[in-house]
Amino acid sequence: MAGDPFSRLVQQINDVDDLRVFMDLHVYAVWDFMHLLKGLQRTVGKHQPELKTLVDELITEEESDHLPVGLGGPAELSHFEIYVCAMREIEADTGAMTSRIDNMRRCSLKEMLADPTVPEASRAFMTNTQNCLEDGQPEVVAGAYTYGRELLMPKLFAELRNRLIQLQLPCPTLNWYLERHISLDGETHGPLAIQLVEKLIGNDPEAKKRVEVIKKKTLFARAEFWNRISETIKKAKQPN
Ligand SMILES: [Fe+2]
Ligand SMILES: [Fe+2]
Repeated sequence: MAGDPFSRLVQQINDVDDLRVFMDLHVYAVWDFMHLLKGLQRTVGKHQPELKTLVDELITEEESDHLPVGLGGPAELSHFEIYVCAMREIEADTGAMTSRIDNMRRCSLKEMLADPTVPEASRAFMTNTQNCLEDGQPEVVAGAYTYGRELLMPKLFAELRNRLIQLQLPCPTLNWYLERHISLDGETHGPLAIQLVEKLIGNDPEAKKRVEVIKKKTLFARAEFWNRISETIKKAKQPN
């Protein structure tokens, strides 16, 4: 088994119950991603409005995608909504999930962090996102977005997709979601995000340092998140 936290986590997923635990916690990271991206739009609009079109483009692609007809498409859905469809596909307890998702649609990131029903693993991850947003410097928010999300996902999602295929789990919408991000983030969003960070840093060595710091922090928060999900899957397997 490979040694990094995500590879360990992926190998721990053996059935739909494990996948459900993973998605129940990971959905918060899918949700807070849009808050990070909207925060990026605000700070770039304020400090470097000439780059705002680039962020607007990224937001449009995250907010309006189309599932294939066979999976309930082609209605226009955000990636978060598509992830929710993928959860419903494997979730037995849709009632509890529906109220949680309604809450997510209404809440700000701060409100979500104050909600005592949010699982600890997800809260810790979202706290890092909130800290980046509070910092407010455009290159810091862009650094978190680029190194903690767009550049990271294709490799991780490919690993998860391979595992799900190997296990032949009944989750076609999740498989589609993963495939979509492997190609869209790998071929388009990742390169655009890098361009954006480089433009925001410009020739400022201090800004470059700030991006290095946020890159480390964000990757650490991500590794911690995977470790906490691993622990939760392990606990769920233990007899009461
Ligand atoms: Fe996405
Ligand atoms: Fe993306």
